Amino acid sequence: MDKLKRVYIKTFGCQMNERDSEIIYSLMIRKGYVPAQSYEDADIIIFNTCAVRKHAEDRVWGKLSELKRLKVKESSKCPANKAGLAQDMPDRDIIIGLAGCMGKAYGKDVFKRLEHVDFVCGPSNIYDIPALVEKVSSGKRHICSVSKESRPLDREKGLKGSAESLYLYRENNVSSFVNISYGCNNFCSYCIVPYVRGREVSRPRGCVIEEIKYLVDRGIKEVTLLGQNVNSYKSSGRALLGGKNDFVKLLQSVNRISGLERIRFMTSHPKDANLELFKAIAGLDKVCQHLHLPLQSGSDRILKLMNRGYSSKHYQKLVDDMRKIAPECAITTDIIVGFPSETEEDFGHTRDIMDRIGFDGAFIFKYSPRPFAESFKMQDDVSEDAKRRRNQDLLNLQARKMRENIVGFIGNVESVLGLSPAKRPPDSLACAQDYYIKARTMKNYQIVCKADKSLIGKIFDVKITGVQDNTLVGNIV
Ligand code: 5AD
Ligand code: SF4
Repeated sequence: MDKLKRVYIKTFGCQMNERDSEIIYSLMIRKGYVPAQSYEDADIIIFNTCAVRKHAEDRVWGKLSELKRLKVKESSKCPANKAGLAQDMPDRDIIIGLAGCMGKAYGKDVFKRLEHVDFVCGPSNIYDIPALVEKVSSGKRHICSVSKESRPLDREKGLKGSAESLYLYRENNVSSFVNISYGCNNFCSYCIVPYVRGREVSRPRGCVIEEIKYLVDRGIKEVTLLGQNVNSYKSSGRALLGGKNDFVKLLQSVNRISGLERIRFMTSHPKDANLELFKAIAGLDKVCQHLHLPLQSGSDRILKLMNRGYSSKHYQKLVDDMRKIAPECAITTDIIVGFPSETEEDFGHTRDIMDRIGFDGAFIFKYSPRPFAESFKMQDDVSEDAKRRRNQDLLNLQARKMRENIVGFIGNVESVLGLSPAKRPPDSLACAQDYYIKARTMKNYQIVCKADKSLIGKIFDVKITGVQDNTLVGNIV
C-alpha cells in the first residue's frame, strides 16, 4: 500500500481535546502528512474523542459507524469489486483511528464494536499516532496504544525544538491554547477524567514559558493556559512537590512576556482558588477579567456526594471576595442537574445560588453515569423527565441573568482583541461596506464589530451598540 498522506481530525469535547488535535496535526505534519479539509478529502481520519458524558460518546459511535461507507473493502480483495459490482465504493483505502478519552476508556473493545477502526489511542499516547499510522499503512490492523500513566512529559522534550514541533499546526493565529498540566487528582465522584487522563502532572515552568515566547514571536497575542485544575499547578512537575500558589507565580512570569497581550486560563477548582488568585486577576495587566469556577451544585449534601471538597457557603464567599478584589471580573460556571438522589429541595439550592450570583455564563449538564467514576455505583434514580425539567429551568434562569448582565453593557466602551472574520452580523450593524470581525472583551464576551480585517490580532476600543442572541455588537470608536 502507498503511503497515505492527507489527515483529517474530528474533535469532540473540551479545549484539552482541541489542543490535542492541534498537537496530533503537528506531529503528523512533521512526518510529511498534510491536513485535509473533510472526510472525503482524507486518507487518514482520526476521531479525537470525549468520554465525559454518554451523549458525547453516542455521537462518536454514530459518526464513526457512518465512516464505514468510506472504507474500501481493499479493492483487489473485494469480491464485489472484482465482479465490477462495487460501482459506488470508493477507489482508495483509508485509515481510521480513534484517539482521546474514549480510546482509553474502551481500548481494544472499540474493534469489537466497530471492525472498520484501524487503531485506538489514549490521551496519554498521542505522540504514538504517527507510528500507529505507519504500522497500519504497512498492513497491520487493530492496534491499540493505551497506557495507564498520565502524559509523559519527556516525550515532549524529546521532540527536537519542542515548541516548534508542537505548533506546526494552529487553529487560530491570534489566540492559542497552552497546556500547563495534564490529568487530574480530584476524583469528583461523577467524573471519568482522572481515569482516562491519569494523575495530574504539571509541565515545568520553563517549558510553558518557552512555548509562549515561541508563539508570541510568531504573532500570537493571547494564550489560554489549560489544565483540569490550574490552581493546583506545580512548577516542579508532580502534584505533591512544589510550593503553594505556583499557578499565581506562573501567571506573574507569563505576564512579563513582552509582546503577549492577554492571558486566560481554565479551569479553576473552588477548593483551590484563593485570594492570591483574585489579586493576580485584579493586578496583572494582561490577565483577563474572567474566572471559570465550576459550582456543580448548590446543595451541600450533593456537593459532598460529588466529593467536591467545598460547601455552597464557601463558594459564595469566594465569589464575594472576588467581586471585592476584582469587581470587573466575569464569572462562569458548570452545573450538573440530576446527580443521584438529588431532590427538588437540593435542586432548589442550586437554583437559588445561581439566581443570587448571576453568572456571566453557565454550562448546564444532565448527570450522566460514567464507567469507572465512583458515582457509577450509585443508583441513577432521578428520572430523565426530572433531569430535563431541571436542566431547562436553569437554562431559562441563566438566559434571563445573561440578558440582564448584557443589557447593562450597552453604551460601554470595551477594549477588545480582534480574533477572526465574522459572518454578517445582526441588522443593527448592517451597512454598505460589509466587513465584520469577531473579537473578545477582557471579560470573555464575544463581540461582532464592523471593522477592517487588518484589526484581527489587534487590540482596539469598541462601543457596544446592541445585543443579538447573547452576542454583543459594536462599533469601533
Ligand atoms: N455527567 C454530567 N456532567 C458531567 N461533567 C463531568 N462529568 C459529568 C457527568 N458524569 C461536567 C462537569 C464538568 C464539565 C466539564 O462536565 O460539570 O465541570
Ligand atoms: Fe473531573 Fe473534578 Fe477533575 Fe474536573 S476537577 S476533571 S470535574 S475530577
